[in-house]
Amino acid sequence: SKGGYRHYMLKEIHEQPYAVSMTLSSLSENIEYIDSVVKLIAKADRVIITGAGTSFHAGYIAALLLNRYADIFVLPIISSEAMWWMNSVGEKDIVIAISQSGETIDTLKAVREARRRGALTIAISNVLDSTIPRESDIALYTNAGPEIGVAATKTFTAQVVLLSYLAINVARYRNTLRESEAIEYINSLKNLPTQIRNVLNIYEARIASIANEIRDKQNAFFLGRGLGLPLSMEGALKLKEIAYIHAEAYPAGESKHGPIALVEEGFPTIFTIASSVEGELIRSNIEEMKARGSMTIAVYPKNLEDIEKLVRISIKMPIANDFTVGALYIVPHQLLAYYTSVKRGFDPDKPRNLAKTVTVF
Ligand code: F6R
Repeated sequence: SKGGYRHYMLKEIHEQPYAVSMTLSSLSENIEYIDSVVKLIAKADRVIITGAGTSFHAGYIAALLLNRYADIFVLPIISSEAMWWMNSVGEKDIVIAISQSGETIDTLKAVREARRRGALTIAISNVLDSTIPRESDIALYTNAGPEIGVAATKTFTAQVVLLSYLAINVARYRNTLRESEAIEYINSLKNLPTQIRNVLNIYEARIASIANEIRDKQNAFFLGRGLGLPLSMEGALKLKEIAYIHAEAYPAGESKHGPIALVEEGFPTIFTIASSVEGELIRSNIEEMKARGSMTIAVYPKNLEDIEKLVRISIKMPIANDFTVGALYIVPHQLLAYYTSVKRGFDPDKPRNLAKTVTVF
């Protein structure tokens, strides 16, 4: 049942604090097994992370975290493209396949190819004993509870939390992260359910009113750098799939190499800034868009006070670290897509042309 919510998607957005706590408790219940998986990843020569759609975006975040904190070479690659990148994959490599349903054919094929080449395969799924976990060497589950809405929401945050937990511990094991820092980051994951609940409480009404500003737009750019990029990709995907607005995510620095030609008076550009380092780099990109009359919106940490004066609509977020920012800063994007869809008169639970599980390629 929808538990009093108008749509499953909204219910599942609100279930995220609970989903995250379920993911965290299942990780601590299986701590020895998780530890053995951490050690395997820590010893890998190279890691490929693959998935489709929203699962790929969670994988992209994990790839950035493993690169940055654990000093491992990680390639994030969309599963339907993975076959073109497998030529040199071998026994010392690990392929992590992420799939909420565990049934996406493109991701399954990537797993089969990786195994054929001798790589160790790790599946991350929300559905117990689905095909991808069954065919992989190792299976980890997000345990976020069943997701009914076609647009993935709570399973994304659960994936990001599980992957963040792995990345912190891989870094700890490789001594690229101090023990005290690792403990701090793990504790910050434990605070996420409360933080997500606060974000939902504080922003829902405001995001619903921002949806009024973009409901009649035909296009939008979602721009970010670093961790802000996969969050932009996920925000754009959500807006496309349920609100049917053409939304394109781009690395903010790349936007001036072509896409900016489309920007005219009122064209929405939505910037996602995950940290102050990203903020420093992105200011000039915001200025460029502003100079062309773009309707600029920014999702950013509240300590970057000057961003408020720079943009038309500012969504000031609680300050997060690299391991919590994914699960936290995606919430306004999910709400924006949801309310824009509803205000445009669509049913976000029944996006046209889409199925929850994609078993054809
Ligand atoms: C987006 C969405 C799809 C899925 C994709 C992968 O909201 O639902 O893009 O993320 O089809 O599905 P799974 O994770 O089941 O492999």
